Amino acid sequence: MTEHEHRPWWHETTIYQVYPRSFADSDGDGIGDLPGITARLDHLVDLGVGTIWVSPFFSSPQADFGYDVSDYCDVAPEYGTLADAEALIAGAHERGLRVMFDLVLNHSSDQHPWFLESRTSRDNPKADWYVWRDGRGPGGRKPPNNWRAAIEVKTGWQWGEERQQWFLASFLPCQPDLNWRNPDVKAAMFDAVRFWLDRGVDGFRLDMFGSIMKDPEFRDNPLRPTMSRVTPPRLYPHEFTENTADNIELARDLRAVCDEYEPERVLLGEVFGPAEVLQAYTGGPGGDGLHLAFLFEFLVFRYDAGWFHDVIARFEHAFPAPAQPTYVVENHDRSRSIDRLGGDEEKARVLATVLLTVRGVPTIYMGQELAMANTYRPLRDALDPIARSLAWIPEPLSKRLPERLNRDEVRSPMQWDGTLNAGFCPPEATPWLAVNADHRTRNVADQDGRPWSMLEWYRHLLRLRRDHPALHAGDLHLRSGLGAGLLAYDRRHGDDHVTVAANLGAAATWVEVTDDQRLLAASAEDVHLADGRLYLPPDRAAVVGSAPPNTG
Ligand code: BGC
Repeated sequence: MTEHEHRPWWHETTIYQVYPRSFADSDGDGIGDLPGITARLDHLVDLGVGTIWVSPFFSSPQADFGYDVSDYCDVAPEYGTLADAEALIAGAHERGLRVMFDLVLNHSSDQHPWFLESRTSRDNPKADWYVWRDGRGPGGRKPPNNWRAAIEVKTGWQWGEERQQWFLASFLPCQPDLNWRNPDVKAAMFDAVRFWLDRGVDGFRLDMFGSIMKDPEFRDNPLRPTMSRVTPPRLYPHEFTENTADNIELARDLRAVCDEYEPERVLLGEVFGPAEVLQAYTGGPGGDGLHLAFLFEFLVFRYDAGWFHDVIARFEHAFPAPAQPTYVVENHDRSRSIDRLGGDEEKARVLATVLLTVRGVPTIYMGQELAMANTYRPLRDALDPIARSLAWIPEPLSKRLPERLNRDEVRSPMQWDGTLNAGFCPPEATPWLAVNADHRTRNVADQDGRPWSMLEWYRHLLRLRRDHPALHAGDLHLRSGLGAGLLAYDRRHGDDHVTVAANLGAAATWVEVTDDQRLLAASAEDVHLADGRLYLPPDRAAVVGSAPPNTG
């Protein structure tokens, strides 16, 4: 492969997720907005990421903070206007950034005019736009089958009084599932997709993509308890409600819509399932389905060299080049990674090193580059609808839940500086969620230019990734048979050879490197290179290699 060979932009990109409500508030209402994001785009440029993914900002009653859309082609007033969305795209493109929006195709809000009409009768023009079914038992008062909602103790079916029928809501009751088997629905949704493609968006993150096409026969899901740490907590296999053959087909249809556009637009699916299923979505080399699928294992990483070795090996095996694995350690639904690491920043630097030097597409969640932490909020005060539904759990008990489900805790405002409200909104405004008290010492302004700050570490790693073909385009070879606690791999592209080593163990260790390799990045000052060996105290990571070709 030559360095000038054409590689699709999304093979080499790095993604930064912005949760718009919490990123930057430009008008002082305490809610982040699109002009706020546009005004802060230089932060992303300085950080060195390639793509910004913006969580939903479309018209919405905000019952699930934007994942309940009431107009796919307009912007919720608290986030701005259509012109602001266009300005965000233009501002990003001027700076060489790509833009991905978040498409919520599985369900709309129950306040969407389509649903308001659909629910009125069994024969209105939109009657069949959602998944309606007669119930079982006397008067049809029992749900049609055993399909569950996201919080699985409850049925996914909701009673519609006017129609005397049930509608399916696979996530929350206020998010009715659209009936994609109705060609009019599919056409209307694809029009919404084209609406944003016409405005120049470079791609989409696809919310709950795996759940869109359900079994046409409405068969019960098997009653076989399962517990996965990777998927959202679930009790039953979703055999008939997730990853159906028709859903894989839908990925191809959506891809065809994107392929109507130049330059290439990209689809990144939130899909849960085993490797074969994810491969089916992405369609293998030259695939005609989704370009990328989120691999969520790293969201529940174990800080253990063997664990990382095995997961990277599995991803490499399942997504060989030219396919691209994806890596993500945080998002707006799951715990901040620093909390998973017991607040240990040395370990967070090791984690960042792995995330940003493996082969594939990494995603960084806003604030992760500062080691922003969860902002504790008891379930009884939750704004997050999932957490509210769990508010009955007494606090001492809920605090001990292995995975606290209050998503507010990971959505606190971005910490720009040490002033009141962290520069997220004016000091006199009230942010929609409280700012983390640690913003006085943990913020962009403080970490900017400060040697050894987390922000500078992310910037440095991302710069290396851009500069070194081995890191953005090379293959990956995991070293095996290493000492306990040591993770190491080589990345190569042409003459460019980079070695990454991380010591996750309790004792100091070393790894062999070649004579021409020098230290390109070390997570702390006490890492050193001597006599063809890279020495790493515990909780240290380093990158060694030759100078990148383009800098001599
Ligand atoms: C999103 C959540 C959202 C849900 C329903 C998820 O996968 O990431 O934030 O609440 O889909 O749309």
